[in-house]
Amino acid sequence: MSHWPESDMIVLIDAHHLGLRVKELAAQIEADMVELNPVLVVVLKGGFLFGADLIKAFQRPFPVVFAAPRSQREDLLITPEDEALLHGRDVIMVDNLMDAGGSLLRLRDRLQRFHPASIRVAVLLHKTVSNAEPLRVNYLGFEVPDVRVVGYGLDEDQRYRGLESIYTWLPSHRLPKEHP
Ligand code: IMP
Ligand code: MG
Repeated sequence: MSHWPESDMIVLIDAHHLGLRVKELAAQIEADMVELNPVLVVVLKGGFLFGADLIKAFQRPFPVVFAAPRSQREDLLITPEDEALLHGRDVIMVDNLMDAGGSLLRLRDRLQRFHPASIRVAVLLHKTVSNAEPLRVNYLGFEVPDVRVVGYGLDEDQRYRGLESIYTWLPSHRLPKEHP
């Protein structure tokens, strides 16, 4: 039952507030892109719902490209047709969570080779763990504490991606059971 949380999970950000924030981010991105030539690069797998909701909120057509940064084969990051879409365009990388930032930094470096005009970063959640920020986030939904989060595209062993809110676990989760 991937669409239902477990009993020891709690809502961190509910679907209503996620929806409102995503619409605000979409309006902000769209305003910044007025004079530019944008393309959304949705980071798989986690970014697919955030990317979909951004697209639905935009008032003008935005081309979309999917990138699979964990692909073992470097050449399979993006389909060849989509590589051509990046050339000379203003890229907005869309992912749902930035932790230390290594994943998005690596992806940005790999996207540079397709010669975009610029690269911006949109992330729904940022974990405030360290002061070291290797990558500037241009569009941020929410800061979250350094806890495991799932839902709205984020998984734990491929589960919970379909939950409409962002959940975490109660602090007692996974503590060894006390024996009487
Ligand atoms: P970074 O490279 O340290 O920024 O890690 C970001 C990536 O780690 C995200 O794209 C997620 O795939 C994964 N990740 C980090 N924390 C969580 C979490 O709490 N839930 C689900 N995935 C996470
Ligand atoms: Mg990810």
